[in-house]
Amino acid sequence: MVEFALPKNSKLITGIEFPAPDDAERIKRIEVYRWDPDTEENPRIDIYHIDLDHCGPMVLDSILKIKNEIDSSLTFRRSCREGVCGSCAMNVNGKNTLVCTKAIEDYKGTIKIFPLPHLDVVKDLVADMTHFYAQYSSIKPWIETQTPVPADHERLQSKEERKKLDGLYECVLCACCSTSCPSYWWNSERYLGPASLLQAYRWLVDSRDENTGERLDELEDPFKLYRCHTIMNCTDTCPKGLNPAKAIAEIKKMLVSRHL
Ligand code: SF4
Ligand code: SF4
Ligand code: FES
Repeated sequence: MVEFALPKNSKLITGIEFPAPDDAERIKRIEVYRWDPDTEENPRIDIYHIDLDHCGPMVLDSILKIKNEIDSSLTFRRSCREGVCGSCAMNVNGKNTLVCTKAIEDYKGTIKIFPLPHLDVVKDLVADMTHFYAQYSSIKPWIETQTPVPADHERLQSKEERKKLDGLYECVLCACCSTSCPSYWWNSERYLGPASLLQAYRWLVDSRDENTGERLDELEDPFKLYRCHTIMNCTDTCPKGLNPAKAIAEIKKMLVSRHL
């Protein structure tokens, strides 16, 4: 469970409660974190009672319904609604996830929706991803080569080489893992966090990349990599079923073996 951390000097208050329509039979209580930087007001929790007979099945559908029918000022990110864009990451009942991949019926009782924890909040459920993306960019998430492309074909991979990218290429950069990692909470300025490190490993094991040594040099740092203490929150929370903790362990192994 990852609790949402409030901004300094603020306290959470109960906000507005919106009742379900009189004729609703299957009602779900949804609590949503609200904060608007353009007001002087404290963050608050608004409470919505949703008629499930007139709502789509996923948690994302519930907040879309709230935005479309109850309060158009509710702010959140989403795009694909298929679990592939990574933009709808939020904290639901204490666990980070992609809300378009979670069914309402999988939550018993009240659903509590907060922004990703330990990031600044832009507004309501939108977390500030600027630093996260800068860290991702720092690992050079593109192929780097020394040799020219063969004249008669592209840079090819065998099936076995391609298979090494399975479990890595599927990462949608949602930040669920990094924002559930205690080491990242306390050292996010210097520790890269599980998402960027999984991506770093994805390029380290790409047979077409020719800058492995330089990539490892960059990671051999007491903070960038070695702040991972194998707490495993990252792997437990990844909504794509990936294993960032294992990727981090593999990078550590690569660093050890280069010194043998
Ligand atoms: S590893 Fe999983 S949780 Fe982390 S950013 Fe990628 S998809 Fe999201
Ligand atoms: S295994 Fe490492 S990266 Fe994952 S949550 Fe634990 S400390 Fe963070
Ligand atoms: S809307 Fe794209 S992952 Fe949820």
